[in-house]
Amino acid sequence: TEPLRIAIAGLGTVGAGVVRLLTGNAELITARAGRPIEIVAVNARERKKDRGVDLTPYRWQDDLGLMAEADDVDVVVELIGGSDGPAIAFARKALKAGKGLVSANKAMIAHHGAELATLAEEAGKPLKFEAAVAGGIPVIKALGGGAAANEISSLFGILNGTCNYILSEMEQKGSNFADVLKEAQALGYAEADPTFDIDGIDAAHKLAILASLAFGTQISFEEVETRGIREIEAVDIERAAALGYRIRLVGETRYDDGRLFQRVHPVLVPVNHPLAKVDGSLNAVVADGNFVGRLTFEGAGAGAGPTASAVVADIIDIARGELQPAFGVPASALAPAAPAHSDAG
Ligand code: HSE
Repeated sequence: TEPLRIAIAGLGTVGAGVVRLLTGNAELITARAGRPIEIVAVNARERKKDRGVDLTPYRWQDDLGLMAEADDVDVVVELIGGSDGPAIAFARKALKAGKGLVSANKAMIAHHGAELATLAEEAGKPLKFEAAVAGGIPVIKALGGGAAANEISSLFGILNGTCNYILSEMEQKGSNFADVLKEAQALGYAEADPTFDIDGIDAAHKLAILASLAFGTQISFEEVETRGIREIEAVDIERAAALGYRIRLVGETRYDDGRLFQRVHPVLVPVNHPLAKVDGSLNAVVADGNFVGRLTFEGAGAGAGPTASAVVADIIDIARGELQPAFGVPASALAPAAPAHSDAG
C-alpha cells in the first residue's frame, strides 16, 4: 500500500513529540491507518539543536514555501504556532497546492479557521486541528463526529493546562506564581509567549474554536470576554479554600436565538464540583447535547505526548481517507453569531 507522505514544520515540544510517536508506535499506527505514515521532510528555525529525536532520515527543508508545495508530500503538519506570520502563509500555500493540512495552532485556527476551511474545501483536501484544543482530549472529533447528531446547548471547561497547573500547584504546595509558571514552561506546557496562557487568550482561542464546532457558528474570537489569572494571589486561593472553593480558569459558551455567549474567566468552583478535581495540566470539556445528554471529557491538555497523540490521530484519519468539513459543516454554511455579552458586565 502507498504510504501517506508527510512534512512537519516546527520541531518544538509538539513537533519532536510527533516524530517520537510516529517512530515509537510505527507498527500499530500503520495497522490502524491502513498504510504506513512516512515522514518525508522536516523544518524548524534552528537546525542544530538537540531535540532528543533522530532527524537524519528526513529531508531538512529550510524553505517553508518549497515544503508547502513539495511534490513528494501529501500532508503538511503545521506546528510553528502564532496566528499570523510564517504559519498562516505556510498553511495557505499548502492548501492551495492541494496538500492536506494538520495543525496544532489554536491561534491561527481561531483567527483564520473559516478561511482555511474554505481553501481546504476548494482543494477537496482535509484540514484538521484536533491538537489545537485541549491537548490530547479528542474533543474536536467528539463534537464533529460522535455527538454530531445533537444540538449542543452549552459547553464549558478548563482549556489551559498552564493556568490549571499554576492554580492547582499554588493551592496544593503553596508555591508562588512566578515559580510555578517557570515549572510549567520547563514541562513544555506554556506557550512560547506565556502571557497568552496567563491572560486567558489561549483558552479564548480554544473556546472560540469549540463554539464554532458545537453550534455551527462562525468563529468569533474577538468577541470572547476574556480575563486571565494574572491578578490571582496566594491569598485569594487560601480564602477560596477556606470557604470550600477552588479557583479555576473556566471557558463557557452558549448559543441562543442567534446570540453567541463566550467567556473565559477565573471561577470559584465548589470543591466537590467535577471541575475542581481537574488538577495539574489536565483539561476538561463538558458539553450538553439534546439527545445524548451531558458529555464530560477529561485528560492531558498540554505537553508533548498528549498533543502529539492528537496530531497523529488527525494524520491517521487522513491516511484512512476521511474528509469531513473542518467545522462539521461547510465553511459557507456556518451561521453568523451576534455577540451576547454577560449581564454581569
Ligand atoms: N499552552 C497551552 C496550555 C498548551 O497550557 O494549555 C496546550 O494548548
